[in-house]
Amino acid sequence: MENYFADERGFYGEFGGAYVPEILYKCVHDLQDAYLPIIESPEFKQEYHALLKDYVGRPSPLYFAERMSEKYGCQLYLKREDLNHTGAHKINNTIGQILLAKRMGKTRIIAETGAGQHGVATATVCALMNMKCEVFMGATDVERQHTNVERMKMLGAEVHPVRTGNMTLSDACSEAIRDWCCHPADTFYIVGSTMGPHPYPDLVARMQSVISEEIKWQLQEKIGRDYPDYLIACIGGGSNAAGTIYHYVNDERVNIVLSEAGGHGWQTDYTAATIHKGTTGILHGAKMLVMQDEDGQIQEAFTISAGLDYPGVGPMHCNMAKKGRTKVLSINDDEAIYAGYELTRMEGIIPAIESAHAIAALSKLTFKKDDVVVLTVSGRGDKDVETYLKNKAMAKEYGNF
Ligand SMILES: Cc1ncc(COP(=O)(O)O)c(C=O)c1O
Repeated sequence: MENYFADERGFYGEFGGAYVPEILYKCVHDLQDAYLPIIESPEFKQEYHALLKDYVGRPSPLYFAERMSEKYGCQLYLKREDLNHTGAHKINNTIGQILLAKRMGKTRIIAETGAGQHGVATATVCALMNMKCEVFMGATDVERQHTNVERMKMLGAEVHPVRTGNMTLSDACSEAIRDWCCHPADTFYIVGSTMGPHPYPDLVARMQSVISEEIKWQLQEKIGRDYPDYLIACIGGGSNAAGTIYHYVNDERVNIVLSEAGGHGWQTDYTAATIHKGTTGILHGAKMLVMQDEDGQIQEAFTISAGLDYPGVGPMHCNMAKKGRTKVLSINDDEAIYAGYELTRMEGIIPAIESAHAIAALSKLTFKKDDVVVLTVSGRGDKDVETYLKNKAMAKEYGNF
């Protein structure tokens, strides 16, 4: 059977590994040695799960979406990560990583953020644990995700706008790594997705795996079997997707469909559809599919969605897509805007613009009436209301709202 998880050196097939500057070797090796014994200890598990329950509000509901099921001719269940404290799946991971940081004796936390959801989730757990928090965020994202910037500040975090490159997520990651190089001893870098050097992709996937752990028993309870026919999630760096599929990757009965951000279309220069367009390269400490030119210069990603605006994608997903285990769709901005409105009007749920990419996948698939489809709504759309309103006209072609 294929192994879709990390090997001991952090490789997923040809992707992954830990490509870090000399100055970070010790930090990264310490983390590699420490993470599994800590997160698998009964004491860690007890604290992590207690916080997920009483602080985050887990389990998140698995909601049968009746009107959308009717429209798409399937049995559609929404995994409601949007209902978590702070409004997205990101907090599952930040709770876990801050508990790890504490046990490793670190006193200062840094993070990168795109949509601001990971920044807010990090600032939140830092407030909770009384830790110093600094967040790097591209200046473009500081503008388009303004509410989240204010939330981070209110929570006591320092937000550093990054003005290099196209001033988005990728530049924020580079800046966070630079900061880490300057403060390797006291600082813990809470990475927000299944990317970065080993062990981050594996660590983040494990922290998010609670999503599919819950889907299993929730489906069993609701339909009398613990697996769906389809799992659907959006994919930026890949963390909500990894969590959604974690306990199903080796179950061939389950079709996995992931939506990446096509922007204006993956064949154009304005896209973030890395799995469609990328070639193998090294970015932010790992080998992955990267959008780059012939000289290996990273090409800027483009999408309406700040959380998917990244020119790379986590190594686990590169490998699974390459081996044909996942079907990856490219969803354009206008399709995502339409899908966001559709869920809002048909189910009364305003999804994050990232999650709207997953919803748009429904119209590209053909289901049988009895097919059970579980789609993860990774976050709520409060942060995106302005974007939806401003770009409503874009979705006209698909119907009117
Ligand atoms: C709500 C939401 N969904 C999805 C993503 C994409 O990240 P990932 O692919 O790691 O789940 C983000 C990133 O900021 C997000 O905020």
